[in-house]
Amino acid sequence: MRQFSIGIAIAALCAVAGAQSLTGRWTAKVVTDGEAREMVLALDVDASGHIGGYYQTPQSEDRIVDGRVNGSVFWFTGERDAGPPQRIYGGEAQGEKLKLFVAGSRVQQVEFARVSSDRPKPLPPPPPKVALAAPPPVPYNGLAQTPPMGWNSWNKFQRKVDDQVVRQIADAMVKNGMRDAGYVYVNIDDTWEGTRDAAGVLQPNTKFPDMKALADYVHSKGLKLGIYSSPGPRTCAGYAGSYQHEAQDAKTWAAWGIDYLKYDWCSAPSVYAPDQATMQAAYARMGAALQASGRPMVYSLCQYGMLDVGEWGAKVGGNLWRTTGDISDRWESMQNLGFNLQPGREKYAGPGHWNDPDMLEVGNGGMSDAEYRTHMSLWALLAAPLLAGNDLREVTPGILEILTNKEVIAVDQDALGRQGVRVSRQGDLEVWARQLADGGYAVGLFNRGTAAAKVTAQWSDIGITGAHAVRDLWAHADRGAAAGAYAADVPAHGVAMVKIAK
Ligand code: GLA
Repeated sequence: MRQFSIGIAIAALCAVAGAQSLTGRWTAKVVTDGEAREMVLALDVDASGHIGGYYQTPQSEDRIVDGRVNGSVFWFTGERDAGPPQRIYGGEAQGEKLKLFVAGSRVQQVEFARVSSDRPKPLPPPPPKVALAAPPPVPYNGLAQTPPMGWNSWNKFQRKVDDQVVRQIADAMVKNGMRDAGYVYVNIDDTWEGTRDAAGVLQPNTKFPDMKALADYVHSKGLKLGIYSSPGPRTCAGYAGSYQHEAQDAKTWAAWGIDYLKYDWCSAPSVYAPDQATMQAAYARMGAALQASGRPMVYSLCQYGMLDVGEWGAKVGGNLWRTTGDISDRWESMQNLGFNLQPGREKYAGPGHWNDPDMLEVGNGGMSDAEYRTHMSLWALLAAPLLAGNDLREVTPGILEILTNKEVIAVDQDALGRQGVRVSRQGDLEVWARQLADGGYAVGLFNRGTAAAKVTAQWSDIGITGAHAVRDLWAHADRGAAAGAYAADVPAHGVAMVKIAK
């Protein structure tokens, strides 16, 4: 779902380049985050100035579907970028150079040089979309008896993750107590992928010189290593996906010592028909391949909750599945994903297979500590995977305290594996409860409003009676026995989280 943002034409400076003269092949070398990438523009301009052809990066190839030359300026848009919001590539011809203007990344302007003036050969037609029959069930792999815990590179680092960052994060997790609090998976998200060798074996790119050595290092710290791919030909950031290489990639990861795979739908609609059976089959293909690899790997489906994934995620071998689009480090995003989009999915969660409302943003700076405590409490009540998404090398004591609150983590990791539900709602005030293995309940008293408020959890809403001992899981304090209800003063956007004993 992440795209390069490229856009904006600039006014004509010279009117020398005729429409036809743009026809040909143009190349540019672009360095992004230390990696050199060759970009190719293969332009085919007709007599009336319409642009056809395609453009390529090492990671992707896209047909131009619309475009125009007007004097020395031109614009075009590609197949991938044609939908709303439409993305337009704009540029200007200056003799044998083309300037393409890029917004939204550190590369502001790319200069292309002409390699030939020949009309480019059209790209071969796209492959027909494959429809697959619903697959036989993939047996449970025995992993993720409780929701996976660890760290993932995407929320903070995006493209800027590399071998050194991963090692430093692993070191930090040992030193700052994250590992001992239960965060064991160190997951590399998108942008690690290089190209396939002559035998089709996927290599990491230059950011990851030796994945096996990296896995050995992470394992030596008592941690596990995760990786990322797509059932489609390309990942969301445009890198190589596992389409038609599923078994081969699973074996490669097993040989490296990978322990966890996040498998992201991304470009799969370009090759697969858009129906549920086909999507199940595409995911089952990798589920089965992981198991055939002989190495236990947690299998995380990432298809944003489409096509009733809760109904079939476990049957294709999945241990968790995303239920929504991407989280961002803002209160609106987090509360929308957590409070609004999870109810109704609780029936699908249980030991071995979990709903995934996306990774944590705790510590990334866009929310207050009260909001991050709400985030952490809600995710624990939801039995959500707890994948920290911040820079653990420079975490503040306050954020570390939120992430490593043992009493809240114990709720998330409770052996019963029952996902919590909203039991009452009065305007901005909500009470959520989750039954625990010892017969008690974890209860969140949430205030989604912008002013402090008293929130009351009624026993009748939770389904209990009589007097019960109450413990505050953020204050780490016993609150004595309460009968019938428990009330707490809760700050704006905040939470009081308690355990009600059996
Ligand atoms: C999608 C996923 C994100 C992340 C990016 C990587 O947007 O939902 O979690 O993996 O792709 O490109």
